Amino acid sequence: MKFETPAGQNPIDRMRVVGQPLDRIDGPRKVAGTATYAYEWHDVGERAAYGHVVGAGIAKGRLASIDVSAAERAPGVLAVVTAQNAGALGKGRMNTATLLGGPEIQHYHQAIALVVAETFEQARAAAGLVRVAYTRERGRFSLAREKDKAVKPQGGDTPADTAVGDFDTAFAAADVTLDQTYTTPDQSHAMMEPMASLAAWDGDALTIWTSNQMIAWGRGDVARTLGIPRDKVRLVSPFIGGGFGGKLFVRADAVLAALGAKAAKRPVKVALHRPLIANNTTHRPATEQRIRIGATRDGRITAIGHESWSGDLEGGGPEVAVQQTRLLYAGEHRMTKMRLATLDLPEGNAMRAPGETPGMMALEIAIDELADALGMDPVELRIRNDTQVDPEKPERPFSQRQLVECLRQGAERFGWNARKAHGSVRDGRWLVGLGVAAGFRNAPVTKSGARARLDGDGRVTIETDMTDIGTGSYTIIAQTAAETLGLPIEAIDVKLGDSDFPVSAGSGGQWGANSATAGVYAACMKLREVVATRLDLDPATAGFSDGRVHAGGRSFPLGDAAGAGQIVVEDAIEFGDLDQQKQLSTFAAHFCEVGVDALTGETRVRRMLSVCAAGRILNPKQARSQIIGAMTMGIGAALCEELVVDDTLGFFVNHDLAGYEVPVHADVPRQEVVFLDEADADSSPMKAKGVGELGLCGVPAAIANAIHNATGIRVRKYPITVEDLI
Ligand code: MOS
Repeated sequence: MKFETPAGQNPIDRMRVVGQPLDRIDGPRKVAGTATYAYEWHDVGERAAYGHVVGAGIAKGRLASIDVSAAERAPGVLAVVTAQNAGALGKGRMNTATLLGGPEIQHYHQAIALVVAETFEQARAAAGLVRVAYTRERGRFSLAREKDKAVKPQGGDTPADTAVGDFDTAFAAADVTLDQTYTTPDQSHAMMEPMASLAAWDGDALTIWTSNQMIAWGRGDVARTLGIPRDKVRLVSPFIGGGFGGKLFVRADAVLAALGAKAAKRPVKVALHRPLIANNTTHRPATEQRIRIGATRDGRITAIGHESWSGDLEGGGPEVAVQQTRLLYAGEHRMTKMRLATLDLPEGNAMRAPGETPGMMALEIAIDELADALGMDPVELRIRNDTQVDPEKPERPFSQRQLVECLRQGAERFGWNARKAHGSVRDGRWLVGLGVAAGFRNAPVTKSGARARLDGDGRVTIETDMTDIGTGSYTIIAQTAAETLGLPIEAIDVKLGDSDFPVSAGSGGQWGANSATAGVYAACMKLREVVATRLDLDPATAGFSDGRVHAGGRSFPLGDAAGAGQIVVEDAIEFGDLDQQKQLSTFAAHFCEVGVDALTGETRVRRMLSVCAAGRILNPKQARSQIIGAMTMGIGAALCEELVVDDTLGFFVNHDLAGYEVPVHADVPRQEVVFLDEADADSSPMKAKGVGELGLCGVPAAIANAIHNATGIRVRKYPITVEDLI
């Protein structure tokens, strides 16, 4: 089904099931422990052996020798896989480094061996017996040191540079200017469930039960890496214990489980052990960002320039931290620029709202600083510079943009008027301040398919390779099918995360909810047509409600169309060049109150509010969960999260959950979330967009701005810690 705008009336607009705050339908299985996660698969025909990954102990260089003989002789060991015996390996499209290193080593903790044994303990013990000698080469590990050698990145989905008007002249001529540099650190996804896979071969056909956000990408990359046909690979990933972008791609666990299973002639399961994950897998790259803004005395932006530097392994890409600056505020003269340095650190890639998260961390402090320079309220400054069109391409409007309404409602609800001069409010030993930031994240749409099966008893099963990374995909897909077919939600079964199912949008870029449900809608609309035709009803006028289909005064239970068999249909939603005509984005206003201990410099976030405008909200309970989770991640980004780089040896030092700090319950205050009542007719038949990433974009800056209001201290780096405030 090709999506055309405006979509006109459709069954989703009834909003009897869609839009309801239903509990997640997979909840009982999760609570009862019957929702099977990657490492919990056991019964795959033959008892699985266990693999343990050995990571490289240097960041760059070569294996001089690798001696696995002691490991091979250790109790229970079935096989040891290294690059020497694995055969020729390719590389996935989504991988920058190879997933099994040797003899060349590209980054610290790159996998160099997998030890397979009868038990996990035996595999781990034997992995400790692998003897490796390295030839170390000089690496480049510091963004600050390599920044001057950074180059314009080639390729990629977005241009490296954009320019409109004459930024330099307009900036030089502006009444009020800001020119500041901000830094954001490397960050780790730190999801609860580690990357894990169980692989089993049946002849030349491979099945991998894994934890992966994007089944079709993963299937392709497993095939490319192993050099086998794509149709010989099946990926199964029905439940995922968090991803945040770290599971957008297949990683060493999947590929090494497959190689281990081949060598051991047994199913093999591999979990990346926690201390390996930070350096073995991907991370959000650090940035340095220079922002220059020129404005008139009454606060109209005339020139806005944003330059960002980040680093990655050879062949990698930049962190697109300038993305939001191309779209968020008006201003005639504009310039954005990205530069990429080569770093021999572990590979950088997407983490929750790649681009906008670090970009907004910088830009939204800059706007706060500009408000100060103008003597203007920062809410008012943002409102004054709203734009309803893409400021780089004015002929291209936003499909729907209610940033101003988010800011106004948020200010009202939060009691923004009570904000006082910087450093002037004290509550006992706490310095108290309020901060605000805009929230912005794009809402891309992408082709998404689904299959619908109708049984004679009126039950419908939806199958799609869409994933649920804890976001609620099962539930909103069931809601979509129930609404489209006029069935109660209990009549819908949802099966996800299997490459045997139609290819969906997958879970990434906050495109999953809108695109995947739209694909389910397309399949269900096709099912309606087949049902009506089978029952000799006019498909154009047939109505679907209460489990029945009616037309021309006749009415049948839906299942009658299937009789003793099953009706199976498949369709996909396709969006064409929609995104060239209109800009689809989501908006928010984030408010927060902090207390900073006047003696110790400790910051406590005291309250938070996010007002979000993100199209139709498919399930307010689950959307709220997405936002409060993201706000919590925002506390982490503002106050604790940082992968600390050892820039001599070239690795992330704090590579476990003891050293990589994230907020705990005691760090999280009362969080309030408001969704504006929206329906974006341009986004899809669902009229939804996405919220999973929006809730993070801007939150760290709101906290930084609140700290500034509390203390008068302006910090331009993250995380903001006690050292910055005493
Ligand atoms: Mo997201 S970083 O595309 O999972």
